[in-house]
Amino acid sequence: MPPLLVVQNLRVYYYSLRGIVKAVDGVSIEVDRGETLALAGESGCGKSTLGFALLRLVPPPGRIVGGRILFDGTDLVTLPEDVLRREYRWKRISMIFQGAMNALNPVRTIGDQIAEAIMIHEKNVTKREALERAAELLKMVGIDPKRVKSYPHELSGGMKQRVVIAMALALNPDLVIADEPTTALDVVVQAQIMNLLKTLKKERNMAMIMISHDLALLAEIADKIAVMYAGKIVEYGPSDVVYENPMHPYTQLLLRSIPRLRGPKELVWIPGQPPDLRTPPPGCRFHPRCPFAMDVCRREEPPMIEIEPNRYVACWMYAKR
Ligand SMILES: Nc1ncnc2c1ncn2[C@@H]1O[C@H](COP(=O)(O)OP(=O)(O)OP(=O)(O)O)[C@@H](O)[C@H]1O
Ligand code: SF4
Ligand SMILES: [Mg+2]
Repeated sequence: MPPLLVVQNLRVYYYSLRGIVKAVDGVSIEVDRGETLALAGESGCGKSTLGFALLRLVPPPGRIVGGRILFDGTDLVTLPEDVLRREYRWKRISMIFQGAMNALNPVRTIGDQIAEAIMIHEKNVTKREALERAAELLKMVGIDPKRVKSYPHELSGGMKQRVVIAMALALNPDLVIADEPTTALDVVVQAQIMNLLKTLKKERNMAMIMISHDLALLAEIADKIAVMYAGKIVEYGPSDVVYENPMHPYTQLLLRSIPRLRGPKELVWIPGQPPDLRTPPPGCRFHPRCPFAMDVCRREEPPMIEIEPNRYVACWMYAKR
């Protein structure tokens, strides 16, 4: 059986008035059924844009300009919008959006909001049935089902995030993209949410793409890791191998800069700034910050080198020349 998701050379650009932002620029990844892929990288490297693209929900002025998204063998890039909406988006692939817990409708009960998410996609479901399912979903994410009648302001941050997870899982998708699902939560609640996602994923044999800039958090849940820098994947492989033996200088620095005592606002830190994605540096995009940069790095883009089966790194240091 082919992998559940195969992304080939995907490119997503924002055509802003100030220039073309190449947010995702030739990304290839694969996710198997039941597998968790971690997508890591600094702020602005294109993680959320990649997530949006997989659901074909890139906000304007962005659009997919190239590549393929093969989901269970079907290319979502070229699929007519109505088929995508009817058969794939939310039903088979869903997304927990970054910051969604703060975007719940304040004047409607959480039960109504979950029920509505169900009714939009399943035409034959009555309001009553949808509310019953909402209660079951709340139970599944560890919230008292009686809470269907609660409003978002009556819930803690952790509970709101559980509601958002319930909504993303309402139609029993095969793949869930979780975009920074624990940022803005305190460390204890973060761990609870990660455990919940881990359990749900196992129980439902769901595949997951977990997006975060927090490598320590990702280590606990990921089967595979893709490290992204300035719109490109720079290292990709089984997560235990990559954590044990990071090969790309950027991954090495990212792993080294995991703070020992993590405060909620303390992010990883590497000297220098990520590039402006309208005018990325020539050659290797990391070269202005790389301690090992060579002449070739400033001129030519490094190829994706297969170090061993399923383990890749895009860096001239590993090229046989
Ligand atoms: N609507 C837009 N118009 C123009 N540029 C955009 C737009 N949305 C995002 N970008 C740019 O695209 C790039 C990738 O953004 P994206 O939000 O995907 O990054 P990210 O990795 O998710 O960052 P973060 O960790 O901060 O969430 C950034 O350079 C960003 O400025
Ligand atoms: S290709 Fe060159 S600049 Fe880029 S990460 Fe490797 S050594 Fe550094
Ligand atoms: Mg983001």
